[in-house]
Amino acid sequence: MEKIIVKGVKELKGEVNISSAKNAILPIIAATILCDEKVIIKNTPMLEDVSVLIELLRELGAEIKYSNITDELIIDNSNLKLVDTIDSLVKKMRASFLIMGPILSRFGYCKLSLPGGCNIGSRPIDLHLKGFKLLGADINKQYGYVETKATKLKGNRIYLDFPSVGATENIIMASVLAKGETIIENAAEEPEIYDLANFLNKMGAKIYGAGRGKITIIGVDKLKGTTHTPIYDRIEAGTFMVAAAISKSVIDIKGIDDDNLRPIIEKLKECGVKFINYEDGIIVDGRGNKYPIDIKTLPHPGFPTDMQPQMMALLSTIEGGSVITETVFENRFMHVAELTRMGADIKIDGKTALVNGVSKLTGCEVKSTDLRAGAAMILAGLVAEGETVVGDVYHIDRGYLNIEEKFKKLGANIYREDR
Ligand code: UD1
Repeated sequence: MEKIIVKGVKELKGEVNISSAKNAILPIIAATILCDEKVIIKNTPMLEDVSVLIELLRELGAEIKYSNITDELIIDNSNLKLVDTIDSLVKKMRASFLIMGPILSRFGYCKLSLPGGCNIGSRPIDLHLKGFKLLGADINKQYGYVETKATKLKGNRIYLDFPSVGATENIIMASVLAKGETIIENAAEEPEIYDLANFLNKMGAKIYGAGRGKITIIGVDKLKGTTHTPIYDRIEAGTFMVAAAISKSVIDIKGIDDDNLRPIIEKLKECGVKFINYEDGIIVDGRGNKYPIDIKTLPHPGFPTDMQPQMMALLSTIEGGSVITETVFENRFMHVAELTRMGADIKIDGKTALVNGVSKLTGCEVKSTDLRAGAAMILAGLVAEGETVVGDVYHIDRGYLNIEEKFKKLGANIYREDR
């Protein structure tokens, strides 16, 4: 089994390039289903999750080319057909449920197995289905499958009980070719939603207000091919910001600005981290004194749940009491047990974790309980005494491209091996 081994404690130094956002690329690839002309997606990191979605589209008949040199993805969906062999791939990755909206729109029918829960919570899809139903689809759930049917989707006013990222994206994709006007209220405001809308608008869609709580979509007849460069990965950038903070180092993070990173930067500033913005990126200086802080995860523009494990690793090393409240997912504290094995002092009380910073962490065998938890283990390993052996690294590969290579370039003692 592949493991990532980190030997602490070393100061990091240098530059790191941030990849395009996984959470922007996945809905964008799903959205290409709506178009039967060629689409080019630039700067696409070939992450595990991205390759699952590509495989899925290929099963449906898509012609897809990828260049390792230019990182360019060329998708031609002109010969797409409905097949039922995609189910095992859908089961492999939760986010593949994002194909439901575009497939329903293109074929008037879609049947997928109901996604189960995952390590961080039960993750229902009721809001996606509520949206499809309001757009005129018949929904049928039985034998572990969900079937949606509609001869022609029709625009409607849809209020989301919670600003779900996936539901907002799926409903946008289902409604761009629907008849008339769709309004999504209490929509998710994540930057990746804005990027998806931007991509679809380049193809000829009429989406207004994406990135805010009320999104209006005016249905159009057809989408045309386009070229798009997805936004940078704010969670990868945030992970390297925490790396600078935890290892008391200076890291130059390239290819980012502070617009989409404000919630993370503001919290790190409270901790004592300093930032210098320049044209091409942000220099993060984590050398100064650090202070404990309180964090509550919230939908954007609140603090992102996808940065909660990494921040917990950092706060475990800052003397004093910090409080982390997780409000987005019901079970996103699996990494607490792993950090505790490394010497962290953390108590969980319902949705809240009380982190009492310790003077030192010590390396041991730990697991990546999910994607971001795996990143948190590497961050803790950077400053733990001795060797940290991170297992279940497939979780990390779902969302970070060559994570150990990027850390190695910054001077970390990190490598991957079969153990
Ligand atoms: C996306 C991100 C994920 C991030 C999450 C929250 C992608 C591919 N993944 O996941 O990295 O952690 O946003 O920022 O972009 N919910 C319902 N009913 C629904 C849908 C969601 O109750 O129909 C609940 C979920 O159980 C969860 C909360 O809403 O508690 C947030 O989920 P959601 O915003 O939908 O996250 P995802 O789109 O799955």
